[in-house]
Amino acid sequence: MKRTEFITIKAPERLSQPEERQKLLLAARLLRDGGLVAIPTETVYGLAADALNPAAVAEIFKAKGRPQDNPLIVHISDLRMLPTLIRGELPAPAAQLAGRYWPGPLTMIFPKSDLIPEVTSGGLDTVAIRFPSHPVAQELIRLSGVPLAAPSANLSGKPSPTTAAHCMQDLMGRVDAIVDGGPCGVGVESTVISFAEKVPLLLRPGAVTLEQLREVLPQVRVHDAVYHRLSGEEKAVSPGMKYKHYAPAADLILVDAPRAVFAQYINGHAGPGVYAMCFEEDIPYLRVPCLSYGPAGDPSVQAELLFEVLRRLDEREAVRVYAHCPQKDGVGLAVYNRIVRSAGYQIITPGAGEE
Ligand code: TXA
Ligand code: MG
Repeated sequence: MKRTEFITIKAPERLSQPEERQKLLLAARLLRDGGLVAIPTETVYGLAADALNPAAVAEIFKAKGRPQDNPLIVHISDLRMLPTLIRGELPAPAAQLAGRYWPGPLTMIFPKSDLIPEVTSGGLDTVAIRFPSHPVAQELIRLSGVPLAAPSANLSGKPSPTTAAHCMQDLMGRVDAIVDGGPCGVGVESTVISFAEKVPLLLRPGAVTLEQLREVLPQVRVHDAVYHRLSGEEKAVSPGMKYKHYAPAADLILVDAPRAVFAQYINGHAGPGVYAMCFEEDIPYLRVPCLSYGPAGDPSVQAELLFEVLRRLDEREAVRVYAHCPQKDGVGLAVYNRIVRSAGYQIITPGAGEE
């Protein structure tokens, strides 16, 4: 058991204040010395360690219970850190994306340099790089003086944490410190795009949307796994794709239907432990206990609330959850992707023959 230090940053926008600076220096020292620190980012909390220190990175896998072949994202705080981490030149389209969306919720995959330890890249010859926009994350990378490897700060198999309280639930006693910088604004993990393929390939949708990527790179392809379960033969380009993502203890079923049909279907399936995970506007029509994950027309709010709502359904020991299907464009695609994976790809369309 480790003694987990709890560090609260009260003013993430005023980090130069001496009091806040002392706390950041403490966390940065832990990181430089090979420690594990849960840190806030604009997407979700990350479990950080020195990306170039194999022993420190190995501890991340242990603390999370994460399979060894699932590579970590390396976080930078300055574009000048990039050339030593990747092999070869930065591809021109990647430079364009960086210019437009970094710092921010976008991760890009490149061939890796020899500086990146095998354990960080999960044995692959590529490395995922992200330049986060969260001021606390940036300052911790700067003060520690090293790029930080950071997967989401949850136990493997749990929803990604969007508050320091979630990190505490999962990681107390397993990490050296948890830095509380308040709730994460985005709420779902970063967009992941690979430049290791001939044509840039979207591996994970996020708050930098497919539409936004295509404004810069019209040729971007979308990996099948974003929408569908990978079949046995399909190659997992991203090792994360082949692992079961967060699945609640309850049987989660995605219901793709307009409000009236959704409500009618669920009211007809009410019973002990049956919940609806719905939009705010659905609530008056539902006769089962429900948890809203935001307004129907606002995928950004849905993204922000989703993982908190999934954790709460587990706490309430829901047995079966019917989730109202979000839109599949814009940030909605990221929300859809996380829910459909949590549902083990169970989707029904009542009124279209599934009754
Ligand atoms: O927003 C985020 O990206 C958060 C915050 C903390 O930055 N991090 C995060 O990390 O979500 P993680 O480890 O939970 O998800 C990273 C995903 C995994 O599915 C992993 O398999 C994939 O990115 N990945 C990482 N490196 C890769 C690589 N070299 N090739 C293919 N996929 C990679
Ligand atoms: Mg994760």
